[in-house]
Amino acid sequence: MCGIMGYVGGREASSILLDGLRRLEYRGYDSAGIGTIDSKHKLNVVKDVGKVEQLAQKTELGGLRGIAGIAHTRWATHGGVTSENAHPHLSCKQEVAIVHNGIIENYLELRQELEGRGHRFISETDSEVIAHLIEEVYERKKDLLSTLIDVVQRLKGAYAFAAILVDAPNVMVGARQDAPLVVGLGKSENFLASDALAFIGNTDRVVFLDNRELVLLTEKNVKIYDFAGNLIQKPATQIAWELGSVSRREFEHYTLKEIHEQKDAVLQALRQDPRSVDYFVDAVQGAGKVYLTGCGTSFHAALLAKLLFTSYAKIPVEVLLSSEFEQYEGMLDEKSLLIAVSQSGETADVLSAVKAAKKMGARVLSIVNAMGSTLVRESACTLLNNCGPEIGVAATKSFTAQLMIFNMLALRLGHRDDELSELWSTGSLVEKALGLEDQVREMTERIHVANDFYFVGRSIHHPLALEGALKLKELSYIHAEGMAAGELKHGSLALISEGVPVVVLNPEDATYADTLSNASEVKARGGRIIGVSNKPSKVYDEYIEIPAAPPVLYPVLEAVPLQMMAYYAAISRQQNPDYPRNLAKSVTVK
Ligand code: G6P
Repeated sequence: MCGIMGYVGGREASSILLDGLRRLEYRGYDSAGIGTIDSKHKLNVVKDVGKVEQLAQKTELGGLRGIAGIAHTRWATHGGVTSENAHPHLSCKQEVAIVHNGIIENYLELRQELEGRGHRFISETDSEVIAHLIEEVYERKKDLLSTLIDVVQRLKGAYAFAAILVDAPNVMVGARQDAPLVVGLGKSENFLASDALAFIGNTDRVVFLDNRELVLLTEKNVKIYDFAGNLIQKPATQIAWELGSVSRREFEHYTLKEIHEQKDAVLQALRQDPRSVDYFVDAVQGAGKVYLTGCGTSFHAALLAKLLFTSYAKIPVEVLLSSEFEQYEGMLDEKSLLIAVSQSGETADVLSAVKAAKKMGARVLSIVNAMGSTLVRESACTLLNNCGPEIGVAATKSFTAQLMIFNMLALRLGHRDDELSELWSTGSLVEKALGLEDQVREMTERIHVANDFYFVGRSIHHPLALEGALKLKELSYIHAEGMAAGELKHGSLALISEGVPVVVLNPEDATYADTLSNASEVKARGGRIIGVSNKPSKVYDEYIEIPAAPPVLYPVLEAVPLQMMAYYAAISRQQNPDYPRNLAKSVTVK
């Protein structure tokens, strides 16, 4: 979704900001803009709808001079996709520019009030009120900190913003309330962004702001305050992500690169601090009731975890969709444990589920990829995926990393320590599965013309059927449905006719024979069966052979060809798999 980048230092801000915007592209956006203050104390803004590359081509950008600036990628919420609605937004006298993520809930009321005092608004956004408010308060106070303290008292909602003022051309300011904001500490230059990836090429020393914190940055100084104006000392963190891990290397798309990275990612996920794993195990064993929550792909990982915890450790688990969490008001209590699963750690639905669970007294743990994210900070303990930045909008390596963490926890909870060592074979098994790429590409090129796909599997393969369908929808825009194989005959079989592709997830385990019968029922009605298994069968029209493995690992191995199918379906249909239309990597609105 929306992305913020800000710079103050000795270099020309616009090119650094543009680079930052390029790195924020993966979050999903529909317009972009940059604003700087020049030596004549004038604010200059270039913004438009469309891609960052289009912005980079604009001749006006060459004229953007200045050593302090802010930039933004916008994913429209309030107001259409127009250049007026793109950020930065200016105050009436063009003395303040702001970029903003999140939603100002009381913006209509504030706008009315400001208009009543003569302010003229240009955009339809909720964000613009911040620029006008800062201008008005600053005129009175002539002091940045007290202006910010006043302004944030007026704003309701979830937000992070950065602002520059002509009156203080060497300063950038920001505030955070329920939306991420990270400071990057450089040498005689400092950065402010919604995501450390934006400035990772310049510095890896960061300070994560917490809720209700303000920041004032100059090229030499960073000062952080709470909303009451008290100065706060916060430690800097060295982040492990390197610039290399954000490059596409030899791959045509990030998504393909990240699919390939899974052979290492599945092992990285196992490299956890033993004390944190013990903490999780104790918390699950000691809980009155265990709940899991997440959205999208992370929800599918949680569904699989439920089956693993139940079958390996006989621990019943309830999985609640984060976006539906409000339904469960009063259901959790002090004895409840909620494990929240999220790649980004910033998904608004997940964070609001966590807030609600805490309010009911529950303990919250999490499984997250993005270190320093809000979810990590809201959790009593976190197991990090350790799989590096995931840029492709559709989750791939973060999903299999989540599965590996759940495999490890389930085996620990079930006291099956002898099987734990088998998890380390996953790297080479995934490497074998990656060898299916040519076959999956060739098959997908033949069948991508179908309008509908079905994915079926039983037990632990059911969440993978859901995930296979989600991946195909997200990347290729082909309609797809995933379901429990046994449910086909209770309705969806009516949709099967000649040539309809049905992906059957059927490795050799306890579910094998029943799933094969379901595949035969489909075949008898003309369906085209794509079998994903370690055991061939004449029922399959297409056979994708994954390596034989300990049963607990099959979902991870199935994920690889399913992701490749979705990727090559997107390529065959000439869609960009990295940035699917209408979707965002990190959905920071409910
Ligand atoms: C968005 C993405 C999905 C992702 C979901 C949950 O909708 O497009 O691919 O699965 O968010 O994201 P999270 O970061 O919480 O795992």
